[in-house]
Amino acid sequence: MNIAIIGAGNVGGTLGKRFAAAGHEIVFGVRDPARDKYQSLVMQAGSRARLAGNAEAAAGASAIVLATPWSTTESALAACGDLSGKIVIDATNPLGADLNLGMGLTDSGGEQVARWARGALVVKAFNSTGFNVMDDPVLDGRHAVMFVAGDDAAAKGVVLDLAGAIGFEAIDAGPLKIARLLEPLAVLWIHCAYRQGLTRDYAFALIRRGA
Ligand SMILES: NC(=O)c1ccc[n+]([C@@H]2O[C@H](COP(=O)([O-])OP(=O)(O)OC[C@H]3O[C@@H](n4cnc5c(N)ncnc54)[C@H](OP(=O)(O)O)[C@@H]3O)[C@@H](O)[C@H]2O)c1
Repeated sequence: MNIAIIGAGNVGGTLGKRFAAAGHEIVFGVRDPARDKYQSLVMQAGSRARLAGNAEAAAGASAIVLATPWSTTESALAACGDLSGKIVIDATNPLGADLNLGMGLTDSGGEQVARWARGALVVKAFNSTGFNVMDDPVLDGRHAVMFVAGDDAAAKGVVLDLAGAIGFEAIDAGPLKIARLLEPLAVLWIHCAYRQGLTRDYAFALIRRGA
């Protein structure tokens, strides 16, 4: 699959490398393709990865990973052009400067992304754990969980497969409005990592009776 990564930082860079290693064609959509940090990212991601501006990256992709800071997400989406019918995987969290959510309970960043990217098939995923866990979701032999929420069943299936392919136990969490629960889950992960001493090297996992 051709996947565009908009926001080639910690999350986007990591997911791009992992998806390329899983056999997908990756285009990192960046604001300045000439910057050194992007050249080295493409080198690390291998021959299946390249750089482009946001519009070119999105135009050639069937799935677009959104991994921008919340403050630039609306403009990044606008720079991608018409996203109707494309899968938009929203890995962002609508965090303020204090790392708390700027919305919740009755709305979510995922739903706001769907309003900005009119006509896109928005799926919330890869927002609820650290990028270092995305780099290797198997911790001491156990698979970290990745909850996936979206309204389009086929698009959500694609994202569940992508999460599974890079090592997560991928769980269908329901419709896109469940992003209202997945974004606070990200804040819990951040809180426990930085304020409760768990550090970034931990992840949420599922245990089930009779599975
Ligand atoms: N860090 C985590 O562990 C983690 C985990 C889950 C979810 N998230 C969420 O994922 C998002 C990204 O986090 P991050 O830690 O990866 O941030 P980051 O390392 O700061 O990377 C953000 C990237 O977005 C790029 N960017 C900003 N505006 C852009 C635009 N208009 N078009 C294209 N690229 C643009 C930046 O590029 P420039 O170099 O041009 O500024 C930068 O490379 C946030 O919403 C965050 O809440 C983070």
